[in-house]
Amino acid sequence: CNYLVEKSRGEIIDTLVEGLERLEYRGYDSTGIAIDGDEPDSTVIIKQIGKVEALKKEISKYDLDRKVTFVSHVGIAHTRWATHGQPKQANCHPQTSDKNNEFVIVHNGIITNFRELKTLLINKGYKFESETDTECIAKLYKHIYDTNIQNGHDLDFHELTKLVLLELEGSYGLLCRSSHYPNEVIATRKGSPLLIGVKSEKKLKVDFVDVEFPDDDKPETPILQDENKISVSSNKKNPSAFITNDHHTNRDNLLPIAANEFNLRHSQSRAFLSEDGFPAPIEFFLSSDASSVIKHTKKVLFLEDDDIAHIYDGELHIHRSRREVGASMTRSIQTLEMELAQIMKGPYKHFMQKEIYEQPESTLNTMRGRIDFDSNNVLLGGLTAWLPAIRRARRLIMIACGTSYHSCLATRAIFEELSEIPVSIELASDFLDRKSPVFRDDICVFVSQSGETADTMLALNYCLERGALTVGIVNTVGSSLSRATHCGVHINAGPEIGVASTKAYTSQYIALVMFALSLSDDRVSKQKRRGEIIQGLKLIPGQIKAVLNLEPRIKELCDHQLKNQRSLLLLGRGYQFASALEGALKIKEISYMHSEGVLAGELKHGVLALVDENLPIIAFGTRDSLFPKVVSSIEQVTARKGHPIIICNEGDEVWTKKAEGSDLITLEVPQTVDCLQGLLNIIPLQLMSYWLAVNKGIDVDFPRNLAKSVTVE
Ligand code: G6P
Repeated sequence: CNYLVEKSRGEIIDTLVEGLERLEYRGYDSTGIAIDGDEPDSTVIIKQIGKVEALKKEISKYDLDRKVTFVSHVGIAHTRWATHGQPKQANCHPQTSDKNNEFVIVHNGIITNFRELKTLLINKGYKFESETDTECIAKLYKHIYDTNIQNGHDLDFHELTKLVLLELEGSYGLLCRSSHYPNEVIATRKGSPLLIGVKSEKKLKVDFVDVEFPDDDKPETPILQDENKISVSSNKKNPSAFITNDHHTNRDNLLPIAANEFNLRHSQSRAFLSEDGFPAPIEFFLSSDASSVIKHTKKVLFLEDDDIAHIYDGELHIHRSRREVGASMTRSIQTLEMELAQIMKGPYKHFMQKEIYEQPESTLNTMRGRIDFDSNNVLLGGLTAWLPAIRRARRLIMIACGTSYHSCLATRAIFEELSEIPVSIELASDFLDRKSPVFRDDICVFVSQSGETADTMLALNYCLERGALTVGIVNTVGSSLSRATHCGVHINAGPEIGVASTKAYTSQYIALVMFALSLSDDRVSKQKRRGEIIQGLKLIPGQIKAVLNLEPRIKELCDHQLKNQRSLLLLGRGYQFASALEGALKIKEISYMHSEGVLAGELKHGVLALVDENLPIIAFGTRDSLFPKVVSSIEQVTARKGHPIIICNEGDEVWTKKAEGSDLITLEVPQTVDCLQGLLNIIPLQLMSYWLAVNKGIDVDFPRNLAKSVTVE
């Protein structure tokens, strides 16, 4: 959305399409855009199933004059990962209210009451074209708008939005443009991320108003329950806060600190305009993910749940869709630290490959400025003030999904050993399904790369409601999870684009180990162990680099021994059980080969029945206190004619001897402290999943049916 910035239609389309390309990793089964047509207030919607490339081709088929220029324009676009309705043309977003495109919506999330809404709207004569929940929102907008117009109420766009939101249940991050409100856009969220990038050549002036919400201006009666009870606020423009351009004054600081925050209180009236009321050139970029905005601006404002952002006349106004006690009333403009180069592939063929190879650096970045290797001190600024409370906890619960869950599993033992606090680990969805009891003196640690995973967010809200102290271990700065937790650690791995998580895993692992180290820094009995781990951490980045040298050998295994296999078992115990589960997950999600991580101790209780001379098996046989038991499990496998591939430490005699004169294959990795060994052992599996997938011709960064962040339950 831009104001007084002359742009050609071609530039607008390119900006939208490029933004979609950056977002594609989050969902990629269909795409679409909506922009101004040639007629006044008309909208052109172009959509296509498949990836953004297919949309580009589709756009080129349209007879659109790319040279037409606009000074004020709203374009919206979407890349979809299907939740309701197959990925087919009619189900692509933007979704529309009618054939004239009066209200056009793009939406992330799920409207859980959409069937009820759809039935109501069908009864009122609306015809649905798609199977999506989103179409309901567009039609609801139109219905409420028309009803109000009939009743003589000319609603402001955000007032109309408030009425629409009253009807919606579920989660949403949505944008709406409308021919009734030309060059205005609405952005609102609940449970799905949404941010606003602000770009202006001029200095920006931020101002806010702090007039209390008048008592009679309460949320309006839901329209679908009883249409006769529609009440509309008498305040036409009801801004709570807005940014505009300091276009006629001479402030020399861009977004001065004092004015860098919005105090959101409900205002009675429009309080502020730039000095002479003239709007100035400004562009707003609304997105669910900073990666699509970074090319244009680093100044962003993250919306909170129930915020309604209304942009018009070059101003951003933020309103609340409902009144509540204790909600955060401050929005800050933040400067993103992300660089465009971080979200480009560079010389790599795939993001996943790039991210695997970034690990020597990303693991170092996780530790940077936080560990003093001379004094064996660990300082996690986001936790320091909370450590005394955490140490008093009666238990610690780690909650996450997918790979992030595996990083919890990988570090649980060292957490218990160092902190002497019982630690349980939970898959977020199962934790919620069980309605597990949570107490005020529990510490709940949420681990998430994106900080947006719906299951993890719901579990977080569940724990917050029960008064627990919550800690976030998150990669994405400004994400919902990092904002909603009491304290936490950013893992600083840099943006992770590949759907299969790699560098986030190793950085989460290190962040959790550092957390455990901080918890135990006051315990004399733990100092020797702490020192050993801290010195081990120092070597990890270099050791990861050494493991990456195994790539040619791993590629060869994928080209031969593992080629055309249908299934694969991974065996590990103790610290390496997490490596087995994470390795199996990588192989499943990227190469579509069935693989299973098995606790070596459980082998004889069932899984052994699968073992024969054909089934490929990978075993983690690196040195730790459980080594003899792992050797014995592997002997059980070889006794059944299995030919395991062993991930072992460099020059380990046990395995070199066993390999002599047999077809046992070894992949040697450097040795580190037992609790850190998983950081090195997982690298060969990341490379293996990558090459298995490449060999099969799979688009590694876009595995079928998966999305990078699953923002729906
Ligand atoms: C999705 C991704 C996984 C990821 C999981 C948890 O399923 O495909 O790679 O591990 O979500 O994501 P989070 O962002 O919470 O770590």
